[in-house]
Amino acid sequence: MTLLALAVGGRGLVDPDEPILHVDDEAFLRSRAAFETTRVYGGRPFKLDEHLARLAGSAARVEIGEIDTQELGRLAALALEAAAAPDVMLRLFVTPGRDGAVSPTQVAMVSTLPEGLDELRTRGIRLVSIQLGLDPELRASSPWLLGGVKSTSYAVNMAAEAEAKRRGADDAVFLGSGDVVLEGPVTNVWWRYDEVLYTPALELGILAGVTRATLVEEAAGAGYEVREGAFPLEHLAGADEAFTSSSIREVMPVVELDAAPVGSGAPGPAARELQNALRQEASR
Ligand SMILES: Cc1ncc(COP(=O)(O)O)c(C=O)c1O
Repeated sequence: MTLLALAVGGRGLVDPDEPILHVDDEAFLRSRAAFETTRVYGGRPFKLDEHLARLAGSAARVEIGEIDTQELGRLAALALEAAAAPDVMLRLFVTPGRDGAVSPTQVAMVSTLPEGLDELRTRGIRLVSIQLGLDPELRASSPWLLGGVKSTSYAVNMAAEAEAKRRGADDAVFLGSGDVVLEGPVTNVWWRYDEVLYTPALELGILAGVTRATLVEEAAGAGYEVREGAFPLEHLAGADEAFTSSSIREVMPVVELDAAPVGSGAPGPAARELQNALRQEASR
C-alpha cells in the first residue's frame, strides 16, 4: 500500500513524507487514539457519515474528547482530491495531541488498496480460531476493556493475523471463553445454514462494522434471514458456508476453518450475492 495523500487538521494538505505527530502525543506513548478505515468507490467514500459517527464514539471511549467531524470530512475531501485516484483506501485518525493540547489532532490519509483481494475472493480464505481468553459478557459490561472501540491499540489484532499466517492460514477468528465466536482481527464473521445467516451479536463487545450493518440490510433482499447471537465455534465449523466482512476486504468467502473445509470447501452463494449487493449499494 502506498500513501498517496495526507491532510492534517489546522494545516490542510501536507507532503506525505513530512512528519506530523510529536513523540509526546499519547497516540505514540500509549496507543491512545482512534481511527477509521473506509473504501472509496469511484472517488466517493462509502458511508463516510457512519464512519465519522463511529470515530466520534471511539474517540470518546479513549478520552480524546469531542472531535470535529466536519473538519475531518473536509480533510478527507482534500486528501481524496489530491490523490486523484478513484478506488482507494481512506483512513481517518484522531489523537489527543501533545501534552496540554486544547483540541485533538485530526488526520486523513489516502492510500492505494491492498493488492490481491479479488484473487483471494475467488479462491476463498482459510481461517484459524484464536482464543482471546475473555468472557464476552464481562468484556461487554467492562467499558475499560474497550470492546467494540476502534482504537489504534491493534497490536493484539496484528499478532493474531501473524499467528494465523504462521499456521498456514490467511486470517484469524477470535473466540471468547466458552469458544464463543467473536470477530476477526479486522473483520466481522458470518456463516450460513440453509437460508439463515448467523453473525455474532454486538452485545458480545465486538466492533459494529459498517459493512456488517450494510449486509444486515441487504440480506433480506437477497432472501436471507439474519440471526445475531452468541454462537460456539462448532456452529461456525458445521455451517454450509462462511465469510467475513469489512470495508476494505468487503465480503470474503471462508473455505477452511482450523484446517477443515467449511461447507463444500469452496466460496458459497450467499458470499457472492452479498458481495454483489454491497458493490451495487456502493455504486448508487
Ligand atoms: C475488529 C474489527 N471488526 C470488524 C471490522 C469491520 O468493520 P467495517 O465493516 O466497519 O470495516 C473491523 C474493521 O477494521 C475491525 O477492526
